[in-house]
Amino acid sequence: MAYHQNEEESMKPVLDPASGSRMFYFDRDDSRVLFGDIRSEEHVLRDGRALSITPDVVMDFRQLPFEDETFKVVVFDPPHLSNVGGKAWIGKKYGRLGLNWGDDLRAGFAECFRVLEPFGILIFKWNETQIPVSKILALTDERPLIGHKSGKQMNTHWITFMKAGEEDKNGEPGEGLAPVLQSAE
Ligand SMILES: C[S@@+](CC[C@H](N)C(=O)[O-])C[C@H]1O[C@@H](n2cnc3c(N)ncnc32)[C@H](O)[C@@H]1O
Repeated sequence: MAYHQNEEESMKPVLDPASGSRMFYFDRDDSRVLFGDIRSEEHVLRDGRALSITPDVVMDFRQLPFEDETFKVVVFDPPHLSNVGGKAWIGKKYGRLGLNWGDDLRAGFAECFRVLEPFGILIFKWNETQIPVSKILALTDERPLIGHKSGKQMNTHWITFMKAGEEDKNGEPGEGLAPVLQSAE
């Protein structure tokens, strides 16, 4: 069932459907972002710190409750570990991949791009400790634009996609690009 943003939420141009504890945000209450996650829960970690996963809306990135082309930017940072071993706190913090992770992430990409406007931006984060990023990029037909590696092992990938416009689908410049092409002539 479609989830309709209320008046305040309809102003939000950014969706993060798997926002966890919002660790990478400059402002964890950024009013431009609609924060989602499949769980809403609070924990105290072994070192005493609080871990709060309290999304604005509980949602499943495999089946997002939004109309097509709703957002300008989608941030997608799904779980990257299928085997979290004894380190249960990692599972609490980052979540974990299910047995059908390939199908789940394929559906996640498809949904993120569906709810993005044409030429909208998807910011994707992936740590390839267990699964190489090449396998993950093969799960979407959308084309990455730029990428950057970070972390001590250089195994965290930040990848930006721009959703295809009509011209990419049929091989001809679409209406969205016409003004740009005309001004360059
Ligand atoms: C890597 S963490 C996100 C960390 C986050 N970017 C941050 O800055 O703290 C991945 C999150 O995806 C959530 N998740 C797992 N499966 C999901 C699904 N099907 N739909 C939505 N969220 C999901 C997990 O609960 C977890 O909080």
